[in-house]
Order: sequence, then structure tokens, then C-alpha cells
Amino acid sequence: MANFLVQTSPPLRGETIIHPAKNAVLPILAATLLTNEPFTIPNVPHLTDVTTLCELLEACGSIISWENGGMRLCAQNLCLPQNDDPMRRMRASVLILGPLLARLGAARITLPGGCAIGQRPIDQHIKGMQAMGAEVSQRQGHIELTGKLHGASIYLDIPSVGATENILLAAVLATGMTRIENAAKEPEVVDLTQCLNSMGARISGAGTSTLIIQGVSKLHGIRYQPIPDRIEAGTLACATAIAGGNVLLRGARSEHIRALLFKLQETGVIVIEQRDGLRVRGKALQPTTIRTMSFPGFPTDLQAPMMAVACFTPGTSIFMETVFENRYMHAIELRRMGAHIRVEDRVALIDGGVELQGTHVACSDLRAGAALLLAALGAQGPTHVEDPQGHIDRGYVTIENTLGELGVPIQRVNP
Ligand code: UD1
Repeated sequence: MANFLVQTSPPLRGETIIHPAKNAVLPILAATLLTNEPFTIPNVPHLTDVTTLCELLEACGSIISWENGGMRLCAQNLCLPQNDDPMRRMRASVLILGPLLARLGAARITLPGGCAIGQRPIDQHIKGMQAMGAEVSQRQGHIELTGKLHGASIYLDIPSVGATENILLAAVLATGMTRIENAAKEPEVVDLTQCLNSMGARISGAGTSTLIIQGVSKLHGIRYQPIPDRIEAGTLACATAIAGGNVLLRGARSEHIRALLFKLQETGVIVIEQRDGLRVRGKALQPTTIRTMSFPGFPTDLQAPMMAVACFTPGTSIFMETVFENRYMHAIELRRMGAHIRVEDRVALIDGGVELQGTHVACSDLRAGAALLLAALGAQGPTHVEDPQGHIDRGYVTIENTLGELGVPIQRVNP
């Protein structure tokens, strides 16, 4: 639970270090279940999603200790989780399915509401496990999977990030060869394959839509540092595009957010790729067209922050969200600030350049929350961003410090 008070921002200045990526850390935490040896992650972002997944890993028998901002985990005595409360809180919990099945020959997960075996959100994960020989049953709101896994050829109907990761996590210890077609190519998937290969796995094709996994009998504990967070970097680049200024996003990797950088450049922002990160300079002045897609297309997680940018550029920007069906909740709150946004199904039209006014707005989800904080930078008067469910802290490490470091007048206030 957190509320933020944001005042109109002066141009941003200075630099900030990009944290390790939430979406890379979560599957790597799940991967630690694949070995009975100790695993170290030197720098772990302090996010509620990370602590929630750690609670679940502990319920699976993992022993976890924090050391100097890093983490040491050991899943020597792996078991099925007795407490499945963390699963209800976070969708990424489904990533323990692959490792549990691979090591124990059994897994049990709670459904995040509704029936997921049909056309719903984890059907591709389940389909992959079934192809590898898992028996699937559904009982009292849980999905249970059992069986000794073998290699298989799997075609994903959608290049799902989570399903690709889950199948990888299962296939690395399965007998024989697994082939995933139409696999996700996101940098976080590539990072997971690099981590697994360092543990002794044999995966090829990372970063392409065909992954080939030759199963091995054992994986080892290692020390592994996940990649920097491209979504945090992208969000801060969007903040600069709204407030103007000149910032260095230290550690940000341009090759991970090239689609965003092209789009920001189209709006007039200057982006300079440096050895130590990404320099972003100037303000967005032109409207844009955004179509979210899987990598290397424009990331759906940056659609909301980019919409905040579009509110300030004179002219009409066109957004098309193709990845998730219901991801324009921020538009309603941006309208409360005075933005001219029309939403029709998956399309949003933003008539930018009208003055936004600070007011009380509420976060509906993580990236929507980021968009509201960003819009507040360019709005007249103070904006109160209310986040009773703590969405922003799930994905951004103390965002008030990060934005504050760059000169944004922002404070966390008690609800
Ligand atoms: C991950 C990211 C999330 C990002 C998303 C898309 C993590 C922890 N989260 O989420 O931040 O927005 O990728 O880049 O890494 N789908 C199905 N069936 C399935 C799986 C997915 O229909 O079995 C659908 C989803 O409903 C969605 C689309 O596929 O419409 C993409 O989802 P997916 O790539 O799986 O996203 P996540 O892994 O959940």
C-alpha cells in the first residue's frame, strides 16, 4: 500500500542506476529450484513480487538468506508447497510448475481465478507440460500435474513469455530433446536460458522463435546476475520525454528497448547509446503511433508510460494494444487529469497537447501506476497517485527515490 504526491517537475537532471529486471529475476528464482546446490544472485531488486515468490520458494523447502543486497538460495530439500497463499497473489508463481515437475515428478498450483485449462491464461503452460508426459487434473481450484517428463515438440499458439520460461524450466531436466516452436524472444527469456546453460543445461536458439533443449540429469548451483530492467529504463526515458532535461540511465541496454527508443526519437527526444548506459535528452514534441507486440516489437509494459508521453505532444497519437485485452485502465485516470483519450476496443486515440491538471488518481495495475506518476510530472498542480494495492512497489524499487534522484518533486505519503 502506497500513495505518492507528485508536483510539476522541472527538467530531469543527473543519473540513476537501473535495477535488475523483475521479469528476469522471477524466472531465475524459479530456476533455483532445479538444483540441490546453493545459488547466489548478487544484486536482487527489493520488490514485493520478489518477496512473494521467495515466500513460495520457502514453502517449497528452499532456504533463503539475504546478503548485502543479494540472495543465497538452496533447494536441497524440495517439496510440494503446503502454503499456496502466495500463488493467489502473483501470476508469476505459475513458474514453479516446471521446476517442481522436473525434480519431483509432481506439481500443484492454485488457479489465479477461473478455469485456466481452457482458452484462459495458462493453457499454453499446461499444454507444454502435457506434451512432455505430465498427467493433468483439476481439483478444488487446483491444477495437479504428475509424471516423469520426456522431450517433446511443442508449438505455442502465442509466443507467451511465461509459457516459454515454464517449458524451459521443465525441459532442462527431462529425458531427451524438447523443441519449442513460436517461443518468446524477450531478453528475459534469453537471460533465463543463459542462466540455465551456466547451471549445466543444454539449450540452443535463445533469442529466436525455436528453442532446442537437450535434457540433462543434473544442474548445478551458480552465481548469476540477471539483466538490468528494460521496463524501468523505458519508464524513466518516458519521464524525461515528458519533463525534458538530460539524464543518464546507467546500465540500461539499448538493444533491449530499441522499439521504444525509435518511437521516442520520432517524437523528438534525443537518445544517445553510451558504453555505460543510455543518455536521454529533450522533450517529446510530435505525436506517435504505437502497436504493442512481442519482442522485438513495442513492449506492452511500456504502452501505459508511452501514453502518458502522448498526452503532452500536440496532435493525435494512435495506440493499438495487441498483447493484452484490457490494458487501457490508465486512460480513465489520465482523462480525470484532463487528457483527451478515446478508447475503442484495442485502439486508443490520444489528442495530446492539452493541459493536464493534478488531481487524485488511482492505480489499477503496475504499469498504469507508472503512467500516472509520469503524467503528474507535466501536469499543473500537485497530483496524488493512490495505490492502495501496492502495484507500483511490485515492479519499481522505491520509485520515489529513483525519480527523486533525477529531480522530480515526489514523495511517498501515508495513506
Ligand atoms: C510476461 C511479463 C509481463 C509482460 C508479458 C508480455 C513476467 C513476470 N511478466 O507476462 O510483464 O507484460 O510477459 O510481454 O515476465 N496467454 C494465453 N495462454 C497462456 C499464456 C499466455 O492465452 O498460457 C496470453 C495472455 O493472456 C496474454 C498473452 O498471451 O494475452 C501474452 O502473455 P505472456 O507472454 O504469457 O505474459 P506473461 O508471461 O504472463
